[in-house]
Amino acid sequence: MSVTVLGIESSCDDTSAAVIRDGVLLSNVIASQDVHAEYGGVVPELASRAHQQNIVPVVDTALKRAGIDKHDLSAIAFTRGPGLLGSLHVGTSFAKGLSLGLRVPIVDVNHLHGHVLSHFIRREENDVVPEYPFLCLLVSGGNSQLILVRNYNDMEILGRTIDDAAGEAFDKCAKVMGLPYPGGPHIDRLAAEGDASKFKFAKPHIPGLDYSFSGLKTSFLYTLRDNVKLDPDFIEKNLADLAASLQHTIIDILMDKLDKAVKQTGVRTVAIGGGVSANSGVRDAVAAYCQRRGLTAFIPPRLFTTDNAAMVAIAGYYKYIDRIFCCYDQVPYARVGV
Ligand code: KG4
Repeated sequence: MSVTVLGIESSCDDTSAAVIRDGVLLSNVIASQDVHAEYGGVVPELASRAHQQNIVPVVDTALKRAGIDKHDLSAIAFTRGPGLLGSLHVGTSFAKGLSLGLRVPIVDVNHLHGHVLSHFIRREENDVVPEYPFLCLLVSGGNSQLILVRNYNDMEILGRTIDDAAGEAFDKCAKVMGLPYPGGPHIDRLAAEGDASKFKFAKPHIPGLDYSFSGLKTSFLYTLRDNVKLDPDFIEKNLADLAASLQHTIIDILMDKLDKAVKQTGVRTVAIGGGVSANSGVRDAVAAYCQRRGLTAFIPPRLFTTDNAAMVAIAGYYKYIDRIFCCYDQVPYARVGV
């Protein structure tokens, strides 16, 4: 019998619903929230309100686009965390209510598992998915982790950031350059026209597989401050070169630990995920690295790099297969690893 899962994602500022049947994506609807742009970052209270407004039409549209009736659902999967608590409560409460109404089980999903498992979303029956074990570099606005994935529900964090995430490094440095939030995509665009060797920024020297980006952020800030004293138009004149040099340094930091993790684990497959995996430089660097070492690279379609419910639905699908369900008294959590 086929298994049809509705996924619901509301961990930050995207309200999303998706339907997956037997691992194949039938629909994926995302309502982004413009309301935060003028504040230079996500405002939690406004995000929760927008989720409340969006969730019914988004779920409705996802079911319609999938061409299924809600009574055909086998389970409802929802993001339980990590994320903004108010936002998570909207998706969690909606999932519980719908599950009680339809008398189908609910499955709670760790948002980070979703990012890792986004490589298993098939858009066609015969799409190729990673073989276990593989290494996933998960880089987003809130996390930078190296994860050894032994199975869909057996993951080990080998390294994580001890301070800022890679996405935060992009966003915070972009902010001091006067770029809008989130700055990552702007840096990506500008970097394409800049000279990556023009500026040198500090790189961390920490043992093991952990990441650190706070030193780079400070070094970037001091470079700007010192040069602006000499030339007030320094940032404007060097925008593309600053972006390219910053992006190059972030990629160097990411690739250094990724290489160590590959050598340490002996894996033959490398995947990337999370918002920063949309970055052109990161994608090219991982693809080139894997080609040089004869490894298989899984680079997600850009649609699946940022928050989406398709990844929640696929993670929920695998938990459903293993009959791992959620109880109605379980509540969202703001922080957790994979
Ligand atoms: O995974 P995500 O959507 O949200 C979290 O769960 O954190 O990631 C958002 C992060 C932001 O920091 C954003 O600047 C970054 O992903 N990002 C990028 C690019 N697209 C999104 N960073 C660099 N280059 C990009 N093209």
